[in-house]
Amino acid sequence: MMKHTKRLFFLGLMAVMALGCQENTNKKTGKMEMKKINYGETDGKTIYQYTLANGNGMVVKLINFGGIVTNLFVPDENGKPVDVVLGYDSLQQYIEDSSYFGAIVGRYGNRIAKGQFTLDGQTFNLAVNNGPNHLHGGIKGFNKVVWDSDPFIFPEKVGVVLTYLSKNGEEGYPGNLKVKVTYTLTNDNELKIDYEATTDKPTVINLTHHSYFNLKGAGNGDILDHQLQIMADDYLPVDPTLIPTGELRAVKQSAMDFTTPHSIGSRIKQVEGGYDHTWVLNDYNGKMRLGAKVTEPASGITMKVFTDQPGIQFYSGNFLDGTVTGKNGKRYFKHFGFCLETQHYPDSPNHPEFPPVVLKPGEKYETHTVYQFSSGNNTKAK
Ligand code: BGC
Repeated sequence: MMKHTKRLFFLGLMAVMALGCQENTNKKTGKMEMKKINYGETDGKTIYQYTLANGNGMVVKLINFGGIVTNLFVPDENGKPVDVVLGYDSLQQYIEDSSYFGAIVGRYGNRIAKGQFTLDGQTFNLAVNNGPNHLHGGIKGFNKVVWDSDPFIFPEKVGVVLTYLSKNGEEGYPGNLKVKVTYTLTNDNELKIDYEATTDKPTVINLTHHSYFNLKGAGNGDILDHQLQIMADDYLPVDPTLIPTGELRAVKQSAMDFTTPHSIGSRIKQVEGGYDHTWVLNDYNGKMRLGAKVTEPASGITMKVFTDQPGIQFYSGNFLDGTVTGKNGKRYFKHFGFCLETQHYPDSPNHPEFPPVVLKPGEKYETHTVYQFSSGNNTKAK
């Protein structure tokens, strides 16, 4: 009897180990599907690509390198799938990328002036990687690290939990920071991103997602005809190195006014360098609300961005210059994609008047953003 139990235990253990080692998996629950494939290797770790599909024709592909969304297929008004995010065809290109395509950005998304801030009387020097400033977490930000990944699938949602331990001192930041980012695809054509973190020393944090969208499809021209609305009465003017001056300026009667829909291109020439600013979203009270809405007339695709964050960085792909080759051999030129990065204000650690970004031991950082898609033929997600 004893021998039999041992044998069963051994067989069970082998099965569990085999499952754990399994590199390519397919799962289907209700209308939801999940596929996991081996995407390559870096830093001695395996990179996986997860394909998440819902029953409405929306498909999200993401990798555990940088938490990067590599593809996001949305049906257009004729039901044809359109890949609406810029990206590459190989892991090596994501490793070499300097545009943050599709990535999770942290520990502090956006800029910190001179890479310096003071916390509880101590000055911290961060990696300076953008002119005189610190940008998007430094030289090796969260967009360039390998995350642990754990997929899940339920009848109404499918997703991946990504976790990463950012060690005390990484890129100059204090505190061991445990980060968890959950990507979820729902039946309502939403890509939800839930961010969580805890620390063992006071630190600063501002996580965001950096997909470049083009609702006509990646590589299919510029985004200047996209109709954009941003629910913000104010924006943050910046200095020549893109650090906010501290002023909150009304958008009214300026090229920054997207309180009603405008095509991105209609006034872009009035903004030196193109749009690359934080809009101060209305009604910041910790609750989710609509922050921005974009419609592309030819595909009929609409994207809505919901968030609990105080700001949104609207970046019109000004630094894309056609030098990199993206998916399917297509090159990405100036304004071929736009980002809507939900976040706290840039350089908040040096602006006590801005909403606070300090995370202390015992506290939990928790924020949520939803990108929701619909098109002419998709009445469900309107
Ligand atoms: C910033 C841009 C920067 C870009 C990097 C955006 O979030 O606002 O200034 O060049 O990221 O790809």
